[in-house]
Formats: sequence, C-alpha cells, structure tokens
Amino acid sequence: MENMELPPRPKLFDFHGVSMTHYFTDNWENIQNFQARPDDILIATYPKAGTTWVSYILDLLYFGQTAPERQTSLPIYERVPFLESDFHILPPGTELADKLSTSPRLIKTHLPVQLVPKSFWEQNCRIVYVARNAKDNAVSYFHFDRMNQAEPEPGDWNNFLQRFMDGKMVFGSWYDHVTGWWEKKQTHSKILYLFYEDMVEDTGRELDRLCSFLGLSPSTEEKERVRGGVQFDTMKKNSMANYSTDPVMDFKISPFMRKGKVGDWKNHFTVAQSEQFDEDYKKKMENTQLRFRTTI
Ligand code: PPS
Repeated sequence: MENMELPPRPKLFDFHGVSMTHYFTDNWENIQNFQARPDDILIATYPKAGTTWVSYILDLLYFGQTAPERQTSLPIYERVPFLESDFHILPPGTELADKLSTSPRLIKTHLPVQLVPKSFWEQNCRIVYVARNAKDNAVSYFHFDRMNQAEPEPGDWNNFLQRFMDGKMVFGSWYDHVTGWWEKKQTHSKILYLFYEDMVEDTGRELDRLCSFLGLSPSTEEKERVRGGVQFDTMKKNSMANYSTDPVMDFKISPFMRKGKVGDWKNHFTVAQSEQFDEDYKKKMENTQLRFRTTI
C-alpha cells in the first residue's frame, strides 16, 4: 500500500512510569478490563526480541494441521492479536482478541509485567516470554524505528543507543522489562522464559521445551515441519509472517525480517560505545541472576 497518507510519527510520554506512545494507551480502559480465558496463551516480549518467531511457532503447533488455510490467508498480526495496540487502521487488539474463534487464543503483548491486565493472572494463563540480549535487541529496535512510521523518530544510532540505555523507548526500559518478567517467573510456574539466542542456536531443542511447557506432543514429522517453516529464510519469504502487508512499514528502509542473527551488534557498536554500554549494563543488572549471551 503505497502513497497512503500516514499520520505523523508519535511522541513518547511517561505512562505509569513507562515510556509509551498513544498507540498503546488510547485503548487503555479496554486493555485493563480485558477478560482472559484460562486457556489463553500470552506471548510476552520486549519489542524486537523474537515475538513474531514465537507467535508463528505457536500458531503452527496449534493450528498448522487443523486449520492450514490460516497460514495462507491471515497475516500473523491478525492470527495473534497485539493486545494493547490501537493503530486505527486495524481494530484495536482487545477487539481482535475478543473476536478470535480459535482455542486456545494466542495473544501478543509487549507490556512490562506490572501493566499486564489482571485477568491473565486471575485465570492463571500460560505465558511464553522471550528475551534477547540488550545489544542485538537495541540494534533491531533501531532499524525497526527507522522503517516504521508508527514509531517515534529514532534519530542517529548514537542518540538512539543513549535513549535505549535511559529506558526512553516505547514500552520503556529493556533492563526493567527483562528483569521484571524474570522476577515474576520465580514465583509463577506458568511462565516459560525463553532466550532468542537459544532459539537461534538450536530451534529444535527450544521447540521441545515449548511443547513440554504447553503439554503438546507433536510427532517427530510434525515437529520437523514446524521447525522448517519457522526458519528465518522461510519466514522472511512468507508474506503472512513477514509483515509485508503492513502499510506503516517501509521495507525499502529496512525489512521487518532483517537479519535474524546473534551478534549483529558488532556491526553497529563502536568499541567506545560497547565499553560504555557494558559498564552501564553492569550497574543496571547487578541485582539479578539473569544472564544473556551476546554471541553464540
Ligand atoms: S516485534 O515488532 O516486536 O514484534 O518484533 P519481533 O518479532 O519481536 O522481533 C523481530 C526480530 O526477530 C527476528 N526474527 C527472527 N530471527 C531468527 N529466526 C526467525 N525465524 C525470526 N523471525 C523473526 C527479526 O529478523 C528481527 O530481528 P533483526 O535482528 O532485526 O533481524
């Protein structure tokens, strides 16, 4: 969809202590009052940590065989509604989720743990959280903000990186997000905490972990089919999984499925930036046991 009149880029503002844009707060009352069902599965991530990958894996695991037409007719963001989104060009995420006829419903959120609607906890829903190392996460977010008109202006890389370190990103601080969910997981057995790096290293192994968490036992053949379908190159070509149908994204600037690698940060960080980042990281993460790999 080209030549469409696009609204100006949104501004960041503080929302309950978290940086946000209006696209994720306009529908706040309905978000807070959202009624989860016990079998809903919430896919929770900081933006650019592997949300689409895990969403697609879950969609294939649950519906790949029973509803194959989904795979060719519905873009991933309609199969797995983005709960807090209200982009005006699509119905709000809460409405899309309410209209889902699947069971279970797969629902995506980028909310930090303290802002998740309370009914997900009341219903004791299963939650799959995916985390990605800060450096690659920042790089991916930078390219995303360059190409996505619904995001604030990224500015240059140096500025962006500073903002990332300051937590002035849409959905707030990466550091607070990954540690907040990590802490929650210590007392809540229904959270599976996955790492993007582990998924790249051995997708089959992480698929097994997912299946065991979800109580699924696909055949070896079926698992292989899923694993093949969710490889980066295959997903990149899949117009129902690669966001090419989203009008606010300009793939000429950068594709949604960009590189899909661990360690691409080395092509972006200068030595000085990396040292400064590491020093700051140590301070921000000193009180957590959570560990990431920046190379594999
Ligand atoms: S979003 O907008 O928050 O939903 O984005 P999200 O899906 O979380 O993250 C996008 C990044 O994930 C990469 N990706 C993958 N990597 C490896 N394998 C597969 N199958 C895959 N699918 C998506 C995608 O390329 C983005 O990372 P970068 O580093 O920018 O390439």
